[in-house]
Amino acid sequence: MKNVPQTVLVTGGAGFIGSAVCRHLVASGKYRVVNLDKLTYAGNLTSLRDLDGNPNYVFRKADICDTDKVRKILADEAVDLVMHLAAESHVDRSIDGPMAFVTTNVVGTASLLQAVLDHWRSLGEEARKRFRFHHVSTDEVFGDLPFDSGVFTEDSPYKPSSPYSASKAASDHFVRAWHETYGLPVVLSNCSNNYGPYHFPEKLIPLVIANALDEQPLPVYGKGANIRDWLFVEDHARALEAVMTGGRIGESYNIGGRAERTNLEVVEAICALLDARRPRNGGRSHLDLITYVTDRPGHDRRYAIDPTKSEQELGWTPLETFETGLARTVDWYLANGWWWRPIREQRFDGTRQGLVAAK
Ligand SMILES: NC(=O)c1ccc[n+]([C@@H]2O[C@H](COP(=O)([O-])OP(=O)(O)OC[C@H]3O[C@@H](n4cnc5c(N)ncnc54)[C@H](O)[C@@H]3O)[C@@H](O)[C@H]2O)c1
Repeated sequence: MKNVPQTVLVTGGAGFIGSAVCRHLVASGKYRVVNLDKLTYAGNLTSLRDLDGNPNYVFRKADICDTDKVRKILADEAVDLVMHLAAESHVDRSIDGPMAFVTTNVVGTASLLQAVLDHWRSLGEEARKRFRFHHVSTDEVFGDLPFDSGVFTEDSPYKPSSPYSASKAASDHFVRAWHETYGLPVVLSNCSNNYGPYHFPEKLIPLVIANALDEQPLPVYGKGANIRDWLFVEDHARALEAVMTGGRIGESYNIGGRAERTNLEVVEAICALLDARRPRNGGRSHLDLITYVTDRPGHDRRYAIDPTKSEQELGWTPLETFETGLARTVDWYLANGWWWRPIREQRFDGTRQGLVAAK
């Protein structure tokens, strides 16, 4: 039997959540992490510079659609566990160009499953028993809720609205199919909106912080009434480790922060934090920069997660409230312009850029 550290292959480890997962798993001392990432516009190895030279971290550039290459990496690195985060993840981009989402999120996940199944079958009996394929998904697969009632549980029906959520829903189904059909030991998790350090500055919270610091408009879709549940990214990384190691095979786990906020409340909270930390010249509030813009097509009204199963079965709870997590996030963006300014200035090519979306 192999001793710790176990080798975890993290797909999409150069992205926002994936990089938090890599940092968290390596810091725990329990794992050797292999980060497999294609480095699309959303992948950024500078998010992982803290791990440079760490013997328990290795980066392998690959596309999850390339089954042969992934199969070879799984074998060469003697992978014990897989956590799958690689995806196209931005709803607005999925509206402008849905096929990239079908290719990576649907075909890519199925291609990865094929490589992982071959790898799992090649393992000895003990390693096969310990192996897990953890698929990281989103609450958006459940569609939307009325403003004033309802909550997503693990049994909520799938009812995705956008090309992004439809592609994630399809990937969830493929993962379950590989379990039911081939016996692959899978676990799934569906999480609400994440925020925190190293978040690509096209998403709501980092975009609003960056625009406010640059004295640019803070555009809010519609009336800003859409509601999302928010979770600090490091709390998600802790939850993902708990699901990967403690989740029951074939089960899914909802993860959320019990922190529902309207988009407008989120923007207002950021403005208040910035007013206190970095007042504008002339003393006016950053709130004056808010601008309302035409709503996104098919914009889900509300997402709300019931994380009771994760809390009770896995003993996981968030360490940050929305208020403490948001303050940490604003402070991080104030201190780390070296990370987000180059992305904003050189690489930010979203065709709907400048519009504020929650995810
Ligand atoms: N951000 C959220 O709020 C949130 C919430 C719930 C679930 N999720 C899910 O978590 C995962 C990670 O989300 P994120 O916000 O960190 O996304 P992200 O866009 O920041 O990162 C995605 C990463 O995947 C990589 N990637 C894309 N296509 C690839 C391919 N074909 N092969 C290999 N690598 C590829 C990118 O280079 C990037 O590093 C996604 O599966 C997403 O659906 C995100």
